[in-house]
Amino acid sequence: MTKNQIIDLLSHFIKIQSVSTDKNRFLEIKKAVSFLSNFLSKLGFSIKILEKEKSPPPLILASLIKDKKAKTVGIYGHYDVQPEDPLSEWKTPPFSLTLKNGKFFGRGVADNKGSIIQNLVAVNNLIKEKRLKNNIVFILEGEEETGSVNFEEYIKKTKDILSKVDVFYLTDTGMHQKYQPQIFYGLRGIVYFELTVKIGERDLHSGIYGNRVYNPINVLTDLIAKIKNIKTGKIQIPKFYKKLRKISRDELLLLKKTLKSDEEEKEEASVFGLTQINNLGKLSSKILPSFDCHGIISGYIGEGQKTVIPKEAKVKFSFRLVEHQDPKEIESLVFDFVKKNLPKEVKWELKCLSKSAPFYTDVNNLWVKQTTSILEDVFGNEVIFNRSGGSIPAAEILQRLFKKPIILTGFTLPDDNIHAPNENFDEEMFFLGIEALEKIYSINF
Ligand code: BES
Ligand code: MN
Repeated sequence: MTKNQIIDLLSHFIKIQSVSTDKNRFLEIKKAVSFLSNFLSKLGFSIKILEKEKSPPPLILASLIKDKKAKTVGIYGHYDVQPEDPLSEWKTPPFSLTLKNGKFFGRGVADNKGSIIQNLVAVNNLIKEKRLKNNIVFILEGEEETGSVNFEEYIKKTKDILSKVDVFYLTDTGMHQKYQPQIFYGLRGIVYFELTVKIGERDLHSGIYGNRVYNPINVLTDLIAKIKNIKTGKIQIPKFYKKLRKISRDELLLLKKTLKSDEEEKEEASVFGLTQINNLGKLSSKILPSFDCHGIISGYIGEGQKTVIPKEAKVKFSFRLVEHQDPKEIESLVFDFVKKNLPKEVKWELKCLSKSAPFYTDVNNLWVKQTTSILEDVFGNEVIFNRSGGSIPAAEILQRLFKKPIILTGFTLPDDNIHAPNENFDEEMFFLGIEALEKIYSINF
């Protein structure tokens, strides 16, 4: 494909507002499904769409089995994206692809639509130029950004096709820095919650009732403060760390190679400073569990002052997990902790929106070796073996169900702004990535 054709394809994909958490945009999810299945079916793929009632985003399984004796490469991607808010922070329209200063901008361009396009183009080129030797199976899901709640169920229904896959590629992570590729052997798991605290049926005057009734904002923030000590970084839920695997010296040595300076990290994240939470400081977002609140809503935030005690408050929070923490066990520890620490006089509801286990894999296999040498060849630098604090539920699920090598890599850069305004993908890394993928999918033993 020519550069213009590729950009055109990416631009069509970015226009589709496939925000999986927004039920009002379900038609856009459907549009993304048609866009991808049309492209793949024109290339000769057989398409299977797995869907359920009550409309969770469907899973697309597209397979091209040319030669039963050849190897089969599985390629995973997610076509859903995070919400574009806050809109006012975007310098270009989120759902319109813009190329500026050597970077493509748009919601989902880095996470993970750009990478899906790279994969489609690489496979397209191999097919059109009659260079494709391996069988290919695409696994494209639409609910990664909402925790892949139905992924395992969908996957189990397609075991006939997926059990023939010899290796799975997930290009939903990024590079260490420009021209320096990396392969991830670990990801954190995640358990995501929504908690509502209600003190009564109506808002109250804080002068008349202050001290006599509970304030739901105070109650929630008190609970949040009890969950994690922000100075030490320690999560204070009993038994939370009980199953944690102690990290080996060898692995620590390996991870030392991935470290960046505080200055570099500060700049990458555009923050004023970093936490100094414990002796694992620099590695704490990779090898330790964490707790973060993502949004909190209650009371008056309009202009000026209003002396009100709101009737309820709501917070969203999650825990990132590392091996060998079990998401189900963590869910119940959190439930017990919330129950024990909230006053009996308030009503509350704790919902677990999704949970996924941590991912950890062996990188001593021929697929990783060959992939590494291709990446080093195309980008001209040593491949870094790393772990990420992010989560991709599919990685652990595919590994557990099929026990085949899982290779996690990708071509976005640390300043790609995923999940944030002005999400971007470096143009040069985008096109070099396609070149690398063409070679990787041609690996033949
Ligand atoms: N692509 C990311 C995960 C990622 C980013 C891994 C960078 C490694 C490096 C993925 O789309 C993502 O954002 N996952 C969510 C999953 C959650 C909603 C269950 C995450 O990590 O927050
Ligand atoms: Mn994401």
